[in-house]
Amino acid sequence: MALYLSSVWISLFLIAFTITVSISATAEESESKEFVVTLDHSNITDFVVKHKFIVVEFYAPWCGHCKKLAPEYEKAASILSTIDPTVVLAKIDASEEQNKVLASEFEIQGFPTLRILRYGGSVVEEYKGPRDAEGIVTYVKKQSGPASIEIISPEYANSVIDDENILVVGVFPEFSGDKFENFTTLAERLRADYEFGHTADAKLLPLGDSSSSGPLVRLFKPFDELFVDFQEFDMDALVKFVEETSIPTVTFFNKDPKHHAFVSKFFNSPNSKAMLFLNFSSEHFEAFKAKYHDLAQQYKGKDLSFLLGDVEASQGAFQYFGLKEEQVPLIIIQTNDGQNYLKPNVEPDQIASWVKDFKDGIVQPYKKSEPIPEVNNEPVKVVVADSLQDIVFNSGKNVLLEFYAPWCGHCKKLAPILDEVAASLQNDADVIIAKIDATANDIPHEIFDVQGYPTLYFKSSTGNVVLYDGERDRTKEDILDFIQKNRASVAKQESTKDEL
Ligand SMILES: *[C@@H]1O[C@H](CO)[C@@H](O)[C@H](O)[C@H]1NC(C)=O
Ligand SMILES: *[C@@H]1O[C@H](CO)[C@@H](O)[C@H](O)[C@H]1NC(C)=O
Ligand SMILES: *[C@@H]1O[C@H](CO)[C@@H](O)[C@H](O)[C@H]1NC(C)=O
Repeated sequence: MALYLSSVWISLFLIAFTITVSISATAEESESKEFVVTLDHSNITDFVVKHKFIVVEFYAPWCGHCKKLAPEYEKAASILSTIDPTVVLAKIDASEEQNKVLASEFEIQGFPTLRILRYGGSVVEEYKGPRDAEGIVTYVKKQSGPASIEIISPEYANSVIDDENILVVGVFPEFSGDKFENFTTLAERLRADYEFGHTADAKLLPLGDSSSSGPLVRLFKPFDELFVDFQEFDMDALVKFVEETSIPTVTFFNKDPKHHAFVSKFFNSPNSKAMLFLNFSSEHFEAFKAKYHDLAQQYKGKDLSFLLGDVEASQGAFQYFGLKEEQVPLIIIQTNDGQNYLKPNVEPDQIASWVKDFKDGIVQPYKKSEPIPEVNNEPVKVVVADSLQDIVFNSGKNVLLEFYAPWCGHCKKLAPILDEVAASLQNDADVIIAKIDATANDIPHEIFDVQGYPTLYFKSSTGNVVLYDGERDRTKEDILDFIQKNRASVAKQESTKDEL
């Protein structure tokens, strides 16, 4: 669930900036030789096993982005066939029935998806490069070459270190031995996310002790202390070092795409997440930034990560949390169990004590809720976050609850059917048919696993919670049948008297 939330998160943050690619309906069909190799379930294994490095595209013939990629991919394949050693680009029609097992093996969730297969397919990586011919060639050349490049001039490090990249350099007196091997393995393992280099001469590096001959690992980053040295060579320690050191003390979020890789890291971290939203153009920005940075420094290594977000770029987050611009500057903390804690209209001097109160468990969770409706007498009852406990759990009734989104087409289709279900049960006092707008209300994820809309759950009068799964049709008859099968009897008036 944490993973699900974080991926929703990342897309909420970044969605506004993904370039919408128009669907080109006619991919040029070339008469000549195809450089992209076609594979399928019958021959992929035999083919891949022969290659130390290969890129495979999983596509579907009807997918617009795939059609757009096709000519670029083909062009890249033709260029890559001329370099030495050559690199093969392949493709698989993952929509074909017989290839579907492959698609699930490779965890393909959308089209097109590209995977890099190394060492005869024993290592599978995500392709994180561009999608134009030139970009594909550059990225693939780099990925298929050595993971760590020997640094032989002072210009190299400066050319790699920029606003987005993290460069990890191994300084070794000689390029052999256990420690060097472990560094090389580290570079192989993390090459998709970081740049790696090695050198025997620390004078070629822009920062840090230039007289050191190593062995040591020096990580360069475009924020905070700019470089950090590390001298342990145990694999786990190395991986942990790179991953932890490359997260900024405070992650910035605004419209500038250079921050986005770090925003993704922020949301993928297992820590609780503190997010301070304010107007970056406001006169108080610097005061907030300084105080917030000090605070983040203080909480390093204490399972809490910090993000500073510009309200101008955060509409997605505001909608997700049900926040309003009048509440800015605000700080919100999301914990891994999905609870949120909010301090609206915060001042720079209040942040530290509020975060301490949060850590001490004094702050009450914040729940996003629509107001409880004053009138609620339609057959399908309206539930909001603030009334969910009363209507669904404390009523002692059998409740069918629909989680919907206002924009969802399948929900609109289901609405009249639910109305009919509710109408036909109107004289049955033991059953409630209800709905909740899951985009405007926080829902207890530990009870209801809502992965899409509409999702229907049934809670029996005895407290059993059952999902109305996707295998079932959403017809009036099927829903009524489901209710009858799962309902329990409702306690008599006498026995519930105590609670009333
Ligand atoms: C794999 O099989 C497919 C379907 O038979 C064929 O089109 C393709 O050329 C084959 N690829 C290789 C590399 O043999
Ligand atoms: C290299 O990594 C392995 C696996 O973590 C570890 O056992 C070994 O001690 C490391 N070598 C050195 C020199 O640290
Ligand atoms: C942020 O502040 C600037 C300058 O004061 C102002 O022009 C802008 O409208 C503000 N943006 C928001 C979203 O409040």
